[in-house]
Amino acid sequence: MTTNSTVQARSNGTGFQQHEVLISARDVTVGFGSKLVLENLSLDVHRGEILGFVGASGAGKSVLLRAVLGLVKKRSGSIEIFGVDVDGASEDARLAMDMRMGVLFQHGALFSSLSVLENIQVPMREYLDLPRKLMDELAMLKIELVGLPRDAAGKMPYQLSGGMIKRAALARALALDPDVVFLDEPTSGLDPIGAAEFDELVGKLRDTMGLTVYMVTHDLDSLFSVCDRIAVLGQKRVLVAGTIEDMLASDDPWVRSYFRGKRARQIDTTAQKRG
Ligand SMILES: Nc1ncnc2c1ncn2[C@@H]1O[C@H](COP(=O)(O)OP(=O)(O)OP(=O)(O)O)[C@@H](O)[C@H]1O
Ligand SMILES: [Mg+2]
Repeated sequence: MTTNSTVQARSNGTGFQQHEVLISARDVTVGFGSKLVLENLSLDVHRGEILGFVGASGAGKSVLLRAVLGLVKKRSGSIEIFGVDVDGASEDARLAMDMRMGVLFQHGALFSSLSVLENIQVPMREYLDLPRKLMDELAMLKIELVGLPRDAAGKMPYQLSGGMIKRAALARALALDPDVVFLDEPTSGLDPIGAAEFDELVGKLRDTMGLTVYMVTHDLDSLFSVCDRIAVLGQKRVLVAGTIEDMLASDDPWVRSYFRGKRARQIDTTAQKRG
């Protein structure tokens, strides 16, 4: 397991321009009926980073993710992805953008009626017109990439463990070789060893493929061990964004209790052991 600082060192060594902004949200407001969930929220996601996105349950983490993906309408503000303003983008540009983004949703990670192989091929069928044999080969490559055994390909989701389901869902998110993946609580429900292995895989994919990772998580272990930067959602906006050290130094009461509470201190020790 890598520590946060070694991950940073490696990401700096991969040749990416530091702080190249891949996704930029500015003054984004999203609401449902009379209730605002996000209000004038601004956030940048940098190329090649693993950004951990935290906040209380119901704070709007999944809503922001859906807004970035264009699945929830914003009331105001702007979102630029790969330098293109999503509101002004043509249909073709939007399609091209969508193909460069992979998603592991919080709920319903896999389609239950499709095998692992077929699940991974869903984005390929949606966006590409490829012969069956080639799709099978590409899907097998993804299965290997995420560390699943080859015989997982023909299995149905109910035949998989929780950890295997997350890996298969990650393989589907990677189906089109995206530049950025959005992972909404990818380690929830996994035991600590399974979660650590998943984190390690995410770090490896970032290091080897130059993937940008936007990871919504409640998992303090992930935040300490694999995330380069953390953004905290609260009061309908990003309260603070920065390194784990910035979180530990923050005076915001929620950030303090989240990162410096009793549980956090225990996790800190664990993270050091894992490092
Ligand atoms: N389609 C919708 N219609 C109405 N309200 C919604 C809709 N989607 C989300 N909400 C509301 O928006 C708020 C934020 O929800 P969201 O799912 O983003 O929370 P979250 O931060 O992801 O929480 P968790 O950590 O529990 O996943 C909640 O109050 C939720 O009920
Ligand atoms: Mg959520």
